[in-house]
Amino acid sequence: MWSEALPPGHVVGGRGALEAFGQRLPRAWRGQRGLVVADAAVAHRLGVVERPLAAAGAQVARLVLPGGEASKTWASIEAIVEAALAHGVRRHGFFVAVGGGALTDVAGFAAAVYLRGVSWAAVPTTLLGQVDAAIGGKTALDGPHGKNLVGAFHPPLLVLADPWWLDTLPAREWRSGAGEVAKAALLLGGEAWAALAALPAPPAGRAALEQLAGAAARHKVRVVAADPYERQPDGGRATLNLGHTLGHALEAAAGMGPLAHGEAVGIGLLAACFLSEAVLGLDPSVQAGVRALLQRWDMPTAVPALDARAVRGFLTKDKKTTAEGLRWVLLAAPGEPRMSVVPPALVDEALARALDPGVP
Ligand SMILES: NC(=O)c1ccc[n+]([C@@H]2O[C@H](COP(=O)([O-])OP(=O)(O)OC[C@H]3O[C@@H](n4cnc5c(N)ncnc54)[C@H](O)[C@@H]3O)[C@@H](O)[C@H]2O)c1
Ligand SMILES: [Zn+2]
Repeated sequence: MWSEALPPGHVVGGRGALEAFGQRLPRAWRGQRGLVVADAAVAHRLGVVERPLAAAGAQVARLVLPGGEASKTWASIEAIVEAALAHGVRRHGFFVAVGGGALTDVAGFAAAVYLRGVSWAAVPTTLLGQVDAAIGGKTALDGPHGKNLVGAFHPPLLVLADPWWLDTLPAREWRSGAGEVAKAALLLGGEAWAALAALPAPPAGRAALEQLAGAAARHKVRVVAADPYERQPDGGRATLNLGHTLGHALEAAAGMGPLAHGEAVGIGLLAACFLSEAVLGLDPSVQAGVRALLQRWDMPTAVPALDARAVRGFLTKDKKTTAEGLRWVLLAAPGEPRMSVVPPALVDEALARALDPGVP
């Protein structure tokens, strides 16, 4: 088990994190009313969360929402707010969000707006949630114009990331989180990159993956603590977008569903390696290592069915576009991210490779 400070609270992760919930409960919650907002996929395992709350004298009600992207809506906010009002959650009460990244995003946003903001805890139950979504205070909803277009920075007081939840995780969700773990290992370099390059497909090698996931989560904590509002243009939180510039565009062009987020990030990582070789002289063995890993994990290395023009359209809509062009997170080496503006012709080449399954 590990614990890191992330103002205004803490992130606790690893095996045993759940058992520590009772001692870690914010003092101000004792004796208060709270709402547990849970992902339907884990509703049968909520005792581990609700028992320590009851033992601390908190009175909690439970609202179960269907998990997944479809729940990141205003309708969910309304349901959460109504349930909290009906239960009498006051300004000093709290929410506990238990579920995948979609659930913690929507419940966190509800916490940001309920009575102009109540404190909350995130208990991520997917690999992606544990290494990424529940850490860092970004909360969001989706709408007809796209994902995450409405949201708030509203960091939880406590994040409890215990791999115990992952026992029931379907293979596709392992892969989705694994893409994010791979990203973090490339950003960390050193031992993390070496461990990643040797990692068998999940969920085999689970202990090694859990260890790497812990390193990935702690890396995000440190980066967010140093740059909580993504204001450092040349590093900081923006580096966490490694693999995401193209990844997001592929996801958007594919439409919701066919490509898991982590799968799109995996292909985005290959593109980032390719561009890094051209712009920063990254050693080609890194790209080869990432490709071998994706193949071992049975993850795609290209998406042939997509239209290049459509993907390019989404690329230029990226939130990270500046006046000079698109700023990519590239690597001089594993562990050495650099923000770089990439010439359009090179981007086209990277894109062509991402759509061509014939690239060895
Ligand atoms: N706020 C952030 O900084 C941030 C960062 C990255 C991603 N996100 C968001 O996170 C979301 C993706 O999160 P995700 O990958 O966790 O997907 P998800 O929340 O959509 O969950 C995937 C599926 O797994 C189910 N599930 C959850 N826990 C389970 C368990 N323990 N066992 C079995 N099934 C389980 C869910 O019900 C859902 O059907 C996206 O909406 C993305 O925008 C947010
Ligand atoms: Zn991501």
